[in-house]
Amino acid sequence: MKVLITGGAGFIGSNFIFYMLDKHPDYEIVCLDALTYSGNLTTLFNVMKNPNFRFVKGDITDRELVDRLFREKKFDFVVNFAAESHVDRSIEDPGIFLKTNIIGTQVLMDASIKYGVKRFHQISTDEVYGDLPLDRKDLFFTEETPIHASSPYSASKASADLLVMAYYRTYKLPITISRCSNNYGPYHFPEKLIPLVITRALNDETVPVYGTGQNIRDWLYVTDHCTAVDLILHKGKEGEVYNIGGHNEKSNLEVVKTILKELGKPESLITFVKDRAGHDLRYAIDPSKITRELGWEPKIGFDEGIKKTIKWYLENRSWWENIISGDYKDYYRKMYESRENSL
Ligand SMILES: NC(=O)c1ccc[n+]([C@@H]2O[C@H](COP(=O)([O-])OP(=O)(O)OC[C@H]3O[C@@H](n4cnc5c(N)ncnc54)[C@H](O)[C@@H]3O)[C@@H](O)[C@H]2O)c1
Repeated sequence: MKVLITGGAGFIGSNFIFYMLDKHPDYEIVCLDALTYSGNLTTLFNVMKNPNFRFVKGDITDRELVDRLFREKKFDFVVNFAAESHVDRSIEDPGIFLKTNIIGTQVLMDASIKYGVKRFHQISTDEVYGDLPLDRKDLFFTEETPIHASSPYSASKASADLLVMAYYRTYKLPITISRCSNNYGPYHFPEKLIPLVITRALNDETVPVYGTGQNIRDWLYVTDHCTAVDLILHKGKEGEVYNIGGHNEKSNLEVVKTILKELGKPESLITFVKDRAGHDLRYAIDPSKITRELGWEPKIGFDEGIKKTIKWYLENRSWWENIISGDYKDYYRKMYESRENSL
């Protein structure tokens, strides 16, 4: 089997590459990644020597390059992780989100049709459903929940999902879509909540929390996302959407306090900052379809996963220290320091 994994130098894509090379040692895996600010080639260092793995630097919106790659490789499966993925950045500059997340998906699907790909899997997000109220714990996102995106990021992902469904209906491209809740684990870029808190607390720096920190996210350890995508790829039904989540709902403040406690750092590091515009209140996934139809179950609960994640960041300091010493420093200043104490 020949599998194209786009966005594999990023957080979830890289974990998926490690998982696939281990689980299917006879598969040939190609990673196509533009190495944007969130892509990091050092993440893939350990698999670069694997004869079944090849890295290609390139943009999924580059039609010529994508066509050449598909012609040469004759992929069986395509798994599209490549995306602009950070809500805050989408509020600052939506254009690149529309280009990569929508046009990029179209370019990949056109090539998939042309070269007879057997399965195009789109990595989507629960954020396409919008949010749920904080006081209705009985409500969850199902695959039937209407699309109701709040941010330019989620709108771009929702648009891509609609296009993927349209390619299934119109061109009979064999597709599947998965919509996962918030992931955490190794190689998570330090601008996202969990790695941000770990890396800043380790340096005894303030930890910014939006608003009052009551927003709820449903956390899934990244390898549980990988097992779900692998299952969908091999056993999922064409044309179907699968929600992925592990019922690990936590408020942002709870997550931050848990990490500080694990690290033995004081809660006085917490600094409340002006809330994100349009900030979604609560995400909560109902994963019963993938459990019922494909037998998927998450293996790692939040208490175990957060310990594993912290351990990884402690043991891999050079990976994140290189990131936070570069351009990311300016981004952090722009996004948080100007908002501090502004509640
Ligand atoms: N992180 C989460 O919690 C989460 C949850 C649900 C779904 N998702 C989805 O999973 C996917 C991966 O998310 P992530 O958190 O790993 O993101 P990430 O930002 O860590 O990685 C994205 C990767 O895509 C690459 N990329 C960006 N633009 C590209 C382009 N035009 N061409 C080729 N490569 C490009 C980047 O270089 C990077 O390696 C995204 O589609 C995201 O929407 C993420």
